[in-house]
Amino acid sequence: SYPQAVKIVEVSPRDGLQNEARIIAVEDKLALINDLRLAGVRHIEVAGFVSPKWVPQLADAAAVCAGLTADPKVHYSALTPNLKGLDAAIVAGIKEVAVFTAASESFNQKNINCSIEESFDRFAPVMEKARDHDIKVRGYVSCVLGCPYEGEIEPQVVAQVAKRLSDMGCYEVSLGDTIGTGTPVKARQMLSMCADQVNMAQLALHFHDTYGQALANLQACLELGAAVIDSSVAGIGGCPYAKGATGNVSTENVIYMLNGMGIETGIDLAGLIKAGQRISRVLDRQSNSQVSRAMGS
Ligand code: HMG
Ligand code: MG
Repeated sequence: SYPQAVKIVEVSPRDGLQNEARIIAVEDKLALINDLRLAGVRHIEVAGFVSPKWVPQLADAAAVCAGLTADPKVHYSALTPNLKGLDAAIVAGIKEVAVFTAASESFNQKNINCSIEESFDRFAPVMEKARDHDIKVRGYVSCVLGCPYEGEIEPQVVAQVAKRLSDMGCYEVSLGDTIGTGTPVKARQMLSMCADQVNMAQLALHFHDTYGQALANLQACLELGAAVIDSSVAGIGGCPYAKGATGNVSTENVIYMLNGMGIETGIDLAGLIKAGQRISRVLDRQSNSQVSRAMGS
């Protein structure tokens, strides 16, 4: 059955912007984060402490973190692929980080330059140090419904990787349909296999809307009781290592759907639309959110 409330994890400042060729100013990123906060978004992934050679757009992670407005209700998080990333996140005062791996060997090689097995070797010291510093760790699995290099991915492999992340101490495991090829029945089957290994309450849905399937996939998964959704305002985003991958499902579309279903999120749709419109102006393009286009001024 459907959950009563859904936790939204807003990933636009990181996932949303990482694929932009033009470097977006720190002030514009901070304005986005602040708009989101004022719209009632409680979980915001603000940066990635990754190699600036790999993702130049995220080279300003420390500056973004330094400019955050402290708000006891808001949890800011950042990606940390290794100990070097975690150390930088600790210096920046970040209290929640995310490690990321994949259910596809080829994608993992392209994205973080190591095998799935090696990624777990890297995460072990990250988990340990994070624990010592009272930092929560989230885990991402990419390519859960398809890989740009390998095609179909076995849901059993997704479930194994999700379980390993959870066993190693990730409080939440986000299931990424990185290239958006998933369809509802497969999405539900994949989630169901993961939920056999990891509590449903710990699983997050991170769907990209490349093929226009994201809301349908979410609805199918919500039916099983999933209650955490990653989304990106104005539907911005993509992955530099998944060619053609477009944005995450837009937060405005998700909130509109959840409002219509009577599922609580604590987020104000009008405020969210404003946030999406401002960043769309910065990016000089129309919003990818149909809800924003229909309701925005
Ligand atoms: P590597 O080249 O194998 O790393 O990259 P290395 O350990 O050999 O180090 C090479 C250089 O990078 C060294 O510098 C290190 O100091 C530096 P040099 O000596 O050459 O000057 N370095 C770092 N610098 C800053 N921060 C760090 C760091 N680590 C090493 N943390 C590495 C391996 C993992 C670092 C690299 O592959 C990387 O940064 N990858 C990140 C790619 C990325 O950010 N992808 C996008 C996010 S994932 C995603 O979008 C999917 C998701 O949204 C879910 C979904 O949709 O599926 C999460
Ligand atoms: Mg993503």
